[in-house]
Amino acid sequence: MLNWDELVASCSTCIKCQLGSTRKKIVIGRGNINAPIMMIGEGPGEQEDLQGLPFVGPAGKLLDLLLEAQMIKKEDYYIANIVKCRPPGNRVPLDEEAERCLPFLRNQVYLIKPKIIVCLGSTAMKYIIDKEAKITQIRGQWIERKGYWIMPTFHPAALLRDESKKLLMWEDIKKVKQRLDNICQN
Ligand code: URA
Repeated sequence: MLNWDELVASCSTCIKCQLGSTRKKIVIGRGNINAPIMMIGEGPGEQEDLQGLPFVGPAGKLLDLLLEAQMIKKEDYYIANIVKCRPPGNRVPLDEEAERCLPFLRNQVYLIKPKIIVCLGSTAMKYIIDKEAKITQIRGQWIERKGYWIMPTFHPAALLRDESKKLLMWEDIKKVKQRLDNICQN
């Protein structure tokens, strides 16, 4: 495994898939690299590609609001994506793109050693939990695997399209906060 500096250098020059040739900026992650929670989304959108930071567009703003309202502080989490370069037109990353990029994410998880991993949406769920699962069926239920507590929930962009998902995601993030509080007490 690489250390942080090596990882950043390796990501920054990566052309292991075609997304490397169309990105403006690589989006490695943001937040506390010693945080107990790691959140994982799908891939950078337009704003993220311009700024080089994940979840800084409309979906990210909504996520920030949700976390703040649940009293999950900025220092409590680190946030990253399945792929580190923007898929053109915000399409879903191809299998090959995700598979080539995943070693970087695994390296991040190894360095951060989070207690809790939150999968934001079906792409994160697919590569982290189960390729065949349905997010609407497994969201809100803890999965314990390899010492991590994993919580699948909706992608915040899905809430922008469908208001009825807001309450469900609120409940899921509430569970994350409860577990965080338990971890902090012990
Ligand atoms: N959607 C994602 O999945 N990730 C981002 O960083 C932004 C939007």
